[in-house]
Parts: sequence; C-alpha cells; structure tokens
Amino acid sequence: MSLQICQPGILAPLAAVGRSLAFRLKPDAPLQASLCRLRDGFDPDWGVLGFGLPLTRALSSEILGLRAFPALAGPGCSVPSTQQAAWVMLRGEDRGMLFDHSERVLKMLEGSLELDDATDTFRYGAGRDLTGYEDGTENPHGDEARNAACAGGEGPLAESSFAAVQRWAHDLRQFRSFPPERRDHIIGRRASDNEELDSAPETAHVKRTAQESFEPAAFMVRRSMPWATAHQQGLEFIAYTRSLDSFDTMLSRMAGLEDGIVDALFTFSRPLTGGYYWCPLVKDGSLHLRALGL
Ligand code: HEM
Repeated sequence: MSLQICQPGILAPLAAVGRSLAFRLKPDAPLQASLCRLRDGFDPDWGVLGFGLPLTRALSSEILGLRAFPALAGPGCSVPSTQQAAWVMLRGEDRGMLFDHSERVLKMLEGSLELDDATDTFRYGAGRDLTGYEDGTENPHGDEARNAACAGGEGPLAESSFAAVQRWAHDLRQFRSFPPERRDHIIGRRASDNEELDSAPETAHVKRTAQESFEPAAFMVRRSMPWATAHQQGLEFIAYTRSLDSFDTMLSRMAGLEDGIVDALFTFSRPLTGGYYWCPLVKDGSLHLRALGL
C-alpha cells in the first residue's frame, strides 16, 4: 500500500536556518520537464515546496482553493501582493546544507523557472520574533495541527496544504522606543512571561488574530522565521492551512477591512511581499504532482 503524507517540513519544528526562495516563470519554457525533474529529485527532507497560480494556469490545471495573494489597502496601511509561480522553503542545520540544497533545486528548475527572490532566515532563541516575543505559542499541535494545515479526505488534494508567505520588515528602533507596556499592548502578550493580556486594546495583534474568534475558526500552523541583513530585519511570515479562506479573513481583519481597526503590528512593521502556494502531498517519498497533470 502506498504512503501519502503532507510534506514533512510543514509540521516539523523550526530548523536552525532556512532559505525562502521565490521563482518566476520564463516565457515559453519547458516547464513540464523541470517539474518532472523536481518530482523525481526533490527530497522532502530538504524543505517545503509550493506552486502559485501563474504556474498552475500555465499548465492549464486547476487546484481547487488556490488563488492569487490579495493586495489590500486598509485605513493607513497597505498589503502588497508579489505572487510568484513557485516557492521553496529550504531548511537546514547550517548554511552549508542550505547552499547544497539550493544548488540542487536551482539545477532542477533551470531553463523554466528563474529565481526572483531569496531570503535567508534563522531561528531566534527558542522561536522568538526579533521583537523578543515568543512566536507560535497558540499553534495547534499533533492531530489538530495536521487538521489545520493539511486537507483530509480521499480526493486528489488530500494531504496537500496551502502556504501563505509574507515578508514583514520591522522598524525595531521604533518598536524599542515604545515603553514596555505599549509594546505588550501591540502584541497582546506580556514579554516577560508570555501571558496573554485581557486588558490589551482591540488593536493588539493576538486580539485581531484570535483563531477561535472567526466563524468558522481560522486555525493555521505558523512556521515563521526571522530574517536580517546589516540594514533591515523582520519576519518571514509562513502559515500553512487547509484552506486559504482562514488566512484571507484574518489578513483583512488585521488590515482593518472588517471593522476599521488596524492591527497594531503596522505601527512598527510592514509587509513587503505576499504569495499563496499550493504544497502538494508526498507519496512514497516523492512529491505527488498528479493534480498538475504530471
Ligand atoms: C510582523 C509580522 C508578525 C509578527 C511579528 C507576529 C507575531 C506574533 C506573536 C508574537 C504572537 C503571539 C504568540 C503566538 O500565539 O504565536 C502571534 C500570534 C498569532 N499571529 Fe502573528 N505575527 C505577525 C503576523 C501575522 C500574520 C500576517 C498573521 C495572519 C494573517 C498572524 C497570525 C497569528 C495568529 C493566528 C496568532 C495566534 C492568535 C491566537 O489564536 O491567539 N500573524 N503573532
């Protein structure tokens, strides 16, 4: 009997380092040949791989529930869409592993998918955002994580997932200039002990995003990682969900489109990128691309 699972990197704990790669399609390129190389050669232990709408449309295939990342304009904030054809989140214990895996993926995609953007990420402390706040506390675990991140059932999309990927740039100087109580009110948790603050204002990030406050509940598995260069820093926000509806409604609420209240994160951080990707299941150790006609 064949073994079908969602890509293992979706539910695995954060690796020490990561690399987020986005690819654009070359016009009139031999796309199917590259994807066959990927199907046969990509080791799911290297990381998670997803395909965006430009790629599924180029193949004239339809993945139910996949759409382009929405560009939003809320009161005083904007959320860009930089939807690409494919995305790979490599994981490793050191940068040497990332280098080797990147080389292999680039070779497989050569000729049809061009690297558009690459950002190296890292685990900060035991899973903190660069603001110092713990990130991932309210993630579901075990079977609940699998249910939130991966589609169930028997259909062609069973065990596959959707990724929402957004690079946020933090103004840490601004954030650190705020008194500690204001910082806690931006997140909605106390930095010192990670306690959720009932007294936080409605703008607090965890009040805007409380998963059970949505109808239906918007559970997702967040696997975000910090990134930093000498000049800029922030969070590579990555969430896996069985339906992009959860992410859509949450992001709209954060941007103030539901009730005019904008998430306080926007006082020190802003999104630079945004993409939605379908992450195919793994069958007998290889990516299963039947839904793309391969
Ligand atoms: C600058 C970008 C972001 C930062 C620094 C950030 C940070 C955090 C932190 C520190 C927490 C509290 C601890 C936890 O439960 O993980 C949290 C919770 C959460 N965040 Fe974010 N986040 C960001 C963007 C987003 C985005 C774009 C979404 C989805 C649209 C999101 C969804 C959530 C959810 C669902 C929770 C848990 C809420 C709950 O059920 O209590 N976050 N985030």
